Amino acid sequence: MNLGAKLLIRDVLPNDVDDLKRFWLKLAKEMYDIEGYIIPSTKNAEIWLSFALKEVEEGRSNILVAQEGLELVGFIHLAYGVSGRFETSSTIATIHEMYVKPRHRGRGIGTMLLKEGIKRLKEKGIKQIRLSVLSGNEKAVRFYEKHGFKVYRYNMHMHI
Ligand SMILES: CC(C)(COP(=O)(O)OP(=O)(O)OC[C@H]1O[C@@H](n2cnc3c(N)ncnc32)[C@H](O)[C@@H]1OP(=O)(O)O)[C@@H](O)C(=O)NCCC(=O)NCCS
Repeated sequence: MNLGAKLLIRDVLPNDVDDLKRFWLKLAKEMYDIEGYIIPSTKNAEIWLSFALKEVEEGRSNILVAQEGLELVGFIHLAYGVSGRFETSSTIATIHEMYVKPRHRGRGIGTMLLKEGIKRLKEKGIKQIRLSVLSGNEKAVRFYEKHGFKVYRYNMHMHI
């Protein structure tokens, strides 16, 4: 790992919103190249941001950013206690998005974001973390496996 001394993992601040929107768009573009599903549009970036920030405001998720000097270089979005259609366990959280700028990858920044995220979740009594990653996103699959995640479910698809 070759980390600069000034790398900081912190909670999102109001001034970060433009960077976050850009990160989401870049993440969505990378995922769209693997599986053309969620459209990487500015409109979708805005929809994502408003949902994600509302969850943070309501204490249902954390967005942590990695800051190096004055530059934001990545983020992680973890949700807990988000209710859907059914009552679900309050001890299970989900990693929704994680992104590190391409030129900063492989420097341990993703690991720092994940470790701080897990620490925050443990403090809230979370016992299990789930996430969904495209099987074609091999580097990310390896990253999560290296950190102890295991396959527990298969999503299937078929072209018609
Ligand atoms: C997955 C991701 C967040 C990891 O962040 P990172 O800062 O590169 O992670 P780290 O440096 O802590 O760990 C790198 C490890 O991940 C893997 N890795 C993933 N992408 C990599 C890249 N572009 N360059 C180098 N290593 C990469 C390697 O296996 C490496 O393992 P090693 O430490 O044994 O060499 C980052 O690659 C990324 O943003 N990818 C695109 C978005 C994405 O796929 N997000 C996850 C799905 S939502």
